[in-house]
Amino acid sequence: MLTVLVLNGPNLARLGSREPDVYGTATLDDLAAACAATAAELGLAVDLRQTDDEAELVGWVHEAADQRLPIVLNPAAFTHYSYALRDALAMRTAPLVEVHLSNPAAREAFRHTSVVAAVADGTVAGFGFMSYQLALRAIAALVAS
Ligand code: DQA
Repeated sequence: MLTVLVLNGPNLARLGSREPDVYGTATLDDLAAACAATAAELGLAVDLRQTDDEAELVGWVHEAADQRLPIVLNPAAFTHYSYALRDALAMRTAPLVEVHLSNPAAREAFRHTSVVAAVADGTVAGFGFMSYQLALRAIAALVAS
């Protein structure tokens, strides 16, 4: 069974208590359960991880490239400025979908830039956990085609 890495950047372990008006009250564990349920429907396995550390995230992207694993990625604040993450993703060997819980385009100006978007197959933003579930569906379709 193909494993999809579902990678989450800084502050996303705080889901549930972090700005609930923006990100809701469900937790990262709830997100993992939602992703696992969708993956099971699609015949995929998910390996969901979170880190506040740019180096650790870059290392996971290298691991995915080496193992040809697709990625669903919420880069969180790294979205907006991490050229190191962008360069790591440019080496990808399998599909990549960028996701956001909120809709960055409808928020502060600094969130309107994604340095990651240009190296992704696509972006799903603004739908809460459903952003991830739609991204998993996109990954399933991309690996099947
Ligand atoms: C986010 C949006 C980013 O702008 C922010 O820095 C995050 C979360 C989202 O999922 O909506 O940490 O990626």
